[in-house]
Amino acid sequence: MIRVQVDGAQPWVSGEALGRLMSQLEAAQGRLWDPKEDEGKKGWLTWPEEDHDGLWQEVEETATEIRSRADVAVVVGIGGSYLGARAMTAMLRPGSEISGFWGFPVVFAGYQLSEGELLRLMDDLDDREPALIVVSKSGSTLEPGAAFHLLRTNLERRYGPQARERIYVVTDPERGALREYAVEKGYRRLPIPPDIGGRYSVLTPVGMLPAAVAGIDIRRVLTGARRGWEDCRRLDLWANPAILYAAARHLLYLQGWMVEALVTYEPRMADFSRWWQQLFGESQGKEGRGLFPAFFHYTTDLHSMGQFVQQGRRLLFETVLDVDGASAPQPAAGESPDPRAVIPDDVDAASAYLAGKRLDDLQEAAMAAVMEAHREGGVPQLRIEAKGPGEELFGELVFFFEAACALGGYLLGVDPYDQPGVEAYKRKLKARLLTGSGGGA
Ligand code: PA5
Repeated sequence: MIRVQVDGAQPWVSGEALGRLMSQLEAAQGRLWDPKEDEGKKGWLTWPEEDHDGLWQEVEETATEIRSRADVAVVVGIGGSYLGARAMTAMLRPGSEISGFWGFPVVFAGYQLSEGELLRLMDDLDDREPALIVVSKSGSTLEPGAAFHLLRTNLERRYGPQARERIYVVTDPERGALREYAVEKGYRRLPIPPDIGGRYSVLTPVGMLPAAVAGIDIRRVLTGARRGWEDCRRLDLWANPAILYAAARHLLYLQGWMVEALVTYEPRMADFSRWWQQLFGESQGKEGRGLFPAFFHYTTDLHSMGQFVQQGRRLLFETVLDVDGASAPQPAAGESPDPRAVIPDDVDAASAYLAGKRLDDLQEAAMAAVMEAHREGGVPQLRIEAKGPGEELFGELVFFFEAACALGGYLLGVDPYDQPGVEAYKRKLKARLLTGSGGGA
């Protein structure tokens, strides 16, 4: 269940202002759900209602194979080809990175160009039996391309021709250099539907293969996405959380607020914030328009950015993403909470008022106190309340944010599916490397 609350954003998001936006909202919702609009770019929209059972079986079989052949999976990708998988594994399997305590380890590479990081990863992998999952829709992105060939060569040194059985490729099923290479080498492949762009692709094998390898029940993620799909189809401002969220942030934008900071309180949501940031930043930041998407992890960032938020230049509003309130399993009625998370009685004088309280109690109080303080500091606040079992909630949240992002792009008058600004740096980088002005051994 996802609920958007706008009470903390008064007077900017008033009933009257929302009413004035209504015809634009109807037009945006109509355009989003009209199959003839943006044809070939909106595969993500119908994805949760379609039957892809054969594909999911293949994803699950591939995940089982990877888990039987390897003891760590390295996902190689950048942007939309890794952020969703990272968000999902971090939210649903916190601590499943290489040094984690439980779950099948899934780590990420190919999302930057640090030589030191890659060499450190290779050192870590020396004591393990790795598999590579290479994800690239275009099959020609520099960062994952470089990391893939370096990691592949390392695997070939170790396993010889059998290295082939440890390499899995997720890419466009019809085109691209990576696809051709994978066919030639005989790597097992999974498709990225051609009509689903990178940052909208987490619910395809892009996110679902790494998730299934990490032990996440992807069918439940799909159930949640389907629920999101049902809610976001409605043309009813108060029953469709995507319309309300898109409308509220658009009204704030129109009234001069420049930065939207997504606020989370649970460390396991940190990577989700990065996924959200890419989705909105790359989809809406163009033609001199768009809110700057930032994120804060409270209470950590209250001791750094909290000062600016409370008293600095008035340019940002907060969107608090409250995911199911608590971080730990809740005790059943009549049961006591886990005593290890209860502050003992024999504390110092300054902490006496905390005695007997759980960490979760402190977290809840912190959320309420921060909202009150920032409100008094003149910070508009939106609140997204998300409740339900983790896997389903992840799917529901993904669909909700994707729908809100596309709607917001239409309200702004930009194409939410292209990224011409990213292409500019890629062209310049390639030109430098081709002319030899980009270094070399
Ligand atoms: O959202 C997008 O389209 C981008 O962020 C891409 O996902 C990113 O540039 C990686 O592209 P590719 O999957 O082609 O390697």
